[in-house]
Amino acid sequence: MISNVVDLASSEDEEHENQTKRKKRTNNTETPVTESPLQSNSNHSLEFRSFWKAGAYDVGSTKSIHEQGQLEHARVHPKFLHSNATSHKWAFGAIAELLDNAVDEVCKGATFVKLDRISNPKDHNPALLFQDNGGGMDPEGLRQCMSLGYSMKAANTIGQYGNGFKTSTMRLGADVIVFTRKSQGSRATQSIGLLSYTFLRKTGQDDVIVPMIDFEISGDRTQPIMYSSLDDWSNNLRNILEWSPFTSDQELLQQFEDIGPHGTKIIVYNLWLNDDGLLELDFDHDEEDIRLRDEVNRDKSLKKRDRLLESHISYQIRFSLRAYVSILYLRKFKDFNIILRGKPVLQHHIVDDLKYLEQITYRPQLGKASKEVTVRAEIGFIKEAPHLRVSGFNIYHKNRLIRPFWKLINDHTSYGSGVVGVLEANFIEPAHDKQDFERSTLFLRLEMRLKQMCNDFWKSHCHLIGNYTVVNQQKKLSIRPFDENAANLQRELSADQPVIGLSANMQQGLHLDQPVVGLAANVQSLSNGNTVLGEPSNMSRNMSSVQPSSGLSAGVNKDVSVDTSGSSLVDQICEENIQLFMRCEEHRQKEIGLKQTIEDLERELEEMKRKCSQLSSHLESQRKLKTISQQNGKGR
Ligand SMILES: Nc1ncnc2c1ncn2[C@@H]1O[C@H](COP(=O)(O)OP(=O)(O)OP(=O)(O)O)[C@@H](O)[C@H]1O
Ligand SMILES: [Mg+2]
Repeated sequence: MISNVVDLASSEDEEHENQTKRKKRTNNTETPVTESPLQSNSNHSLEFRSFWKAGAYDVGSTKSIHEQGQLEHARVHPKFLHSNATSHKWAFGAIAELLDNAVDEVCKGATFVKLDRISNPKDHNPALLFQDNGGGMDPEGLRQCMSLGYSMKAANTIGQYGNGFKTSTMRLGADVIVFTRKSQGSRATQSIGLLSYTFLRKTGQDDVIVPMIDFEISGDRTQPIMYSSLDDWSNNLRNILEWSPFTSDQELLQQFEDIGPHGTKIIVYNLWLNDDGLLELDFDHDEEDIRLRDEVNRDKSLKKRDRLLESHISYQIRFSLRAYVSILYLRKFKDFNIILRGKPVLQHHIVDDLKYLEQITYRPQLGKASKEVTVRAEIGFIKEAPHLRVSGFNIYHKNRLIRPFWKLINDHTSYGSGVVGVLEANFIEPAHDKQDFERSTLFLRLEMRLKQMCNDFWKSHCHLIGNYTVVNQQKKLSIRPFDENAANLQRELSADQPVIGLSANMQQGLHLDQPVVGLAANVQSLSNGNTVLGEPSNMSRNMSSVQPSSGLSAGVNKDVSVDTSGSSLVDQICEENIQLFMRCEEHRQKEIGLKQTIEDLERELEEMKRKCSQLSSHLESQRKLKTISQQNGKGR
């Protein structure tokens, strides 16, 4: 697909169009002022600096594909580089791909990957640098890196599709230059490759052409490797110099000085801008981090600030690269560091934050032909539970985080709130952006099983943390089946009888807004004046004299009396409570589905109406034409 022969036929039309656009922008007083103002660059118009708009340029006439003696081959239009990169909705997902490539080099001796903001020497705009001291690439390796679908990686590496480098670099910026050096036995080489969307677009290419040059290193001498002719070599070099951040051969070669005997340096430049013309990545807010500007701003509009949530990793990973990278790999590296803007990223184990931790074994049904696999899920409550409503499973694949905090239980209830899990699922395949999994049967089964794990964990542990919000949900639901049980219970509870199985909150007084679950939830609603039991005042009086008791709650006073006669009733009520929440959940899902169907039908109806009116106007004009032609016929 890729050749390193460059046809420099520039598209004059497009250059003219760009000049016009540049003029327009100069006159436009609403041009946004960037926080990190981008240096003007005569080669680029801002219209093409926003990733989501960058694929919309006109394709000029294509060159003849059939040259004599040449075998036909499918070509890849430069636009495909862009559309391929749209698989990364999230810029951090793209950054993760480039870190993965460096992590995959650990087996070849890599001890670090550094990621930094540098300044493009040509226009002084920010650029992204990724540098590792892994095995590096030889000339053939670099060609594969720049091509689509080549991956020679072993089975235990993160990389497998041969696509990550292309999607990620093109998602972060319009252009990327790679410097790589490899030593293999007595042979050492270094290579430079340029994948430039700007170059391809501006020179009207209809195939992906990648200028590359290679050198052989022997001792202190560095010799160019020529494959065909000197002209060819010079053309490649000229294109690299014209479209890269570097203006001379010396500047290019200097880039190898800090690479060492082997390693790779990747510079992504002409970074994409957001809709406001600001860099998508924010380097200014925190000089030790890279933040996603729009994600941060999105939260500024939140009505009520929730400091506890804002400090939680599940929230921070949305906009802080340092936070995201801290949980990106499941196992801690022994001799490898990810250095973000000069400071190593501390790896963070989500499991370390969990309380009441449990391990659950899961055996996916892989089919008869496959070896049996056993995986271990770890599940617990976040330490901030029940005050923080964060939940979900973190699913890793071959050590790499694919789905962070995947919510398996609906958001809108407190049911399942605070339950967080971690699982490494190597038996399912990640999607190409490595932010989700392919929806295979195995995946769907896993999803069901994880839901069940969360449910079971919640059922058996929710009393340990109490539960604030079930109360509110309960009030909203005002569920009848509870009435009977609660009424029975009220009858059973006498002023001096000990109670078992209630939440720890019970002992603190049911009239308070304390977290309660199951039975306690019903009782709470009584004290709030709801008419479930009909005798709220008696109930609170009774409850106020209830002895603190144990059973379900771990947080309860130890020296309490236990009455086992009440436990089955409490369990039963808890179970019913849970079943009702599950049903509620099902109904909510159904409601979402129905709403979707209504929307689809409405859209269809609109479409039909549109077609109908088109047809009737067409019919009308046909009728008119017919009348005119009839009149003309009569006139003659
Ligand atoms: N930093 C690097 N050091 C050495 N080789 C690299 C580096 N980055 C990329 N490569 C080489 O380029 C190839 C293509 O990389 P790319 O990320 O596109 O695909 P991959 O990692 O093989 O698979 P995936 O699409 O799943 O990421 C890799 O297989 C590897 O051989
Ligand atoms: Mg990769």
